[in-house]
Amino acid sequence: MKIELQNKKVFIKNQGLKKEIHPFWFRERVNGNDYIDKTTQQRLFDPTKLERNIKIDFLNLSKDFLEVTFDDGAYTKLAIQNILKEFQNIDDLEYIEKVQWDSSFNKSNNFRFTENFSEKEEMYKALINFYKYGFVIFNNVPTQNNYIINFANSIGSIRRTNFGEFFNVKSKPNPNDLAYTSLALAPHTDNPYRKPVPCIQMLHCIENKVNGGLSTLVDGFTVTEKLKKDFPNYYKILTEVKVRFQFIDQTVVLEDWSEIIKLNEKGKFKQVRFSPRLDFVPGMEIDKLEIYYTAREKISELYSSENYKLQFKLEPGDLLMIDNYRLLHGRTSYNANEGERFLQGCYIDYDSTEGKLNHLRRKFNL
Ligand code: OGA
Ligand code: ZN
Repeated sequence: MKIELQNKKVFIKNQGLKKEIHPFWFRERVNGNDYIDKTTQQRLFDPTKLERNIKIDFLNLSKDFLEVTFDDGAYTKLAIQNILKEFQNIDDLEYIEKVQWDSSFNKSNNFRFTENFSEKEEMYKALINFYKYGFVIFNNVPTQNNYIINFANSIGSIRRTNFGEFFNVKSKPNPNDLAYTSLALAPHTDNPYRKPVPCIQMLHCIENKVNGGLSTLVDGFTVTEKLKKDFPNYYKILTEVKVRFQFIDQTVVLEDWSEIIKLNEKGKFKQVRFSPRLDFVPGMEIDKLEIYYTAREKISELYSSENYKLQFKLEPGDLLMIDNYRLLHGRTSYNANEGERFLQGCYIDYDSTEGKLNHLRRKFNL
């Protein structure tokens, strides 16, 4: 893609095709101090009130910038890179390529927490890793006073759920979720019955004095691609049939319908929802149900397979941040009589985390 000028007009050239860019598109982007508020970066003019038939008086194209002067006197200087990016319709995060991983994952993906961490360049690196791998681990995060709330809010905004602003994961009497027992939890995603499903999960280890209770992670993206390649008919049915996810508590019944593997508008992997404790397959013809059950069994087998699973022990101060749309997590069983195992968890939204990433990129000129 490149920019070309001809007769006071700007063209974008892409794979041999040359198309004019609307002059008004540039006029909307006029960015001097008279047009954009310095502090908020918001427009001081209303483009819907401008003369639409605006003309370009003067153009200057250099290697990195395009300067445009309009017949109403407005002038702007725009980075070519930004113009091209907007025409590619790619948002920033698509530049961070998702890296598929399996049990052989051996990248360093731990970051040592220090004071004011969310404003440091290290946080930028951690968030990049999060978007690449779907998880990241912070070490040495203070374990006092529900610190997870401070930590979560320093990155994004907390998504409150029916379990509260944050929740305590420990074995307790009369649990309202199997997470609050010492049973093993097979790989699952959290809250598949919510609309929308909480995006990012944090699990902060406060104490872990048991031998079992190991944390497990699986890359749902890797497993989806494997299924697509080796078992296309299973992939097809799991991406087509919507199942009902349900959670029942004393004061609430939550439900949502979704495919186990959700694809985006381009037919690419977008989200996995998997929790065999909470899903209800709809009534369908016997043959279709037969295929569906076989497909679900296969994907469950892949999620639980040693080929894809990471297994590790969280130590006090470790905080695991997981993409709940991409990864599955779980734990091995433990014996609650051996000592205390106590994690605190919460969820945050994607967009605020993206916002933090973009802010740090701007701040450190990355
Ligand atoms: C959960 C969960 C894992 C663990 O609370 O959602 O999966 O390690 N917990 O206890
Ligand atoms: Zn969980």
